[in-house]
Amino acid sequence: MRSVGPRDTPFLHKFTGVQLFTLAQETAEDWWEVEALFDLSFAPGRTALSSYRLREDVPPVAELCRVARDESGILGGAIRYWPVQVGGAQVLLLGPVAVHPTAQGEGLGAALIRDTVARAQENGFARILLVGDEPYYSRFGFRRLHGVTMPPPTNPDRVLGLDLVPNAWEAITGSVQRTP
Ligand SMILES: CC(C)(COP(=O)(O)OP(=O)(O)OC[C@H]1O[C@@H](n2cnc3c(N)ncnc32)[C@H](O)[C@@H]1OP(=O)(O)O)[C@@H](O)C(=O)NCCC(=O)NCCS
Repeated sequence: MRSVGPRDTPFLHKFTGVQLFTLAQETAEDWWEVEALFDLSFAPGRTALSSYRLREDVPPVAELCRVARDESGILGGAIRYWPVQVGGAQVLLLGPVAVHPTAQGEGLGAALIRDTVARAQENGFARILLVGDEPYYSRFGFRRLHGVTMPPPTNPDRVLGLDLVPNAWEAITGSVQRTP
């Protein structure tokens, strides 16, 4: 098991306070295990989704790709981010994010999202975009984005954004584009 680094974050169980997982930056050795977790957590054919065309051949934002492992090194959850553009503005695309089915509902998904949103803000990013369920992501401050379109077919109600600096999404409209 890898040693704990200075940028690692402990994740404590919300009721018992016991440390269940440690969040750390994803490494090259984690890649395929994270892919397997995403395969398990999403419907088959996830990579056929239009959002994956925005990620193809573009490196993810390394410092925001984080894995949660328990004390035995078992992977409990993971999150990745990619750089994209909307109307010429730089945007972070959150996702995929997934928690292993045996660890869901204990706050780990929230921990991965809060940890990386805070890091993104510290690192000077202005705004985040994702495609997901507003009833889940609204608790982190994500709101429906009007005038921002993902490659079809994407339900516009699932296109959500978060400001990391005040009014970061104001006046930003257009289709979401790959980073050139
Ligand atoms: C979505 C996911 C990452 C959340 O992680 P988690 O660790 O289970 O979530 P948390 O423990 O932080 O939060 C649990 C709460 O979120 C709610 N929730 C989870 N998914 C939700 C959804 N899609 N819509 C609305 N609420 C949702 C749960 O009902 C629970 O509610 P409660 O706090 O009122 O009990 C996880 O369920 C998962 O991996 N799902 C499969 C993959 C996926 O759908 N990823 C997101 C793509 S948009």
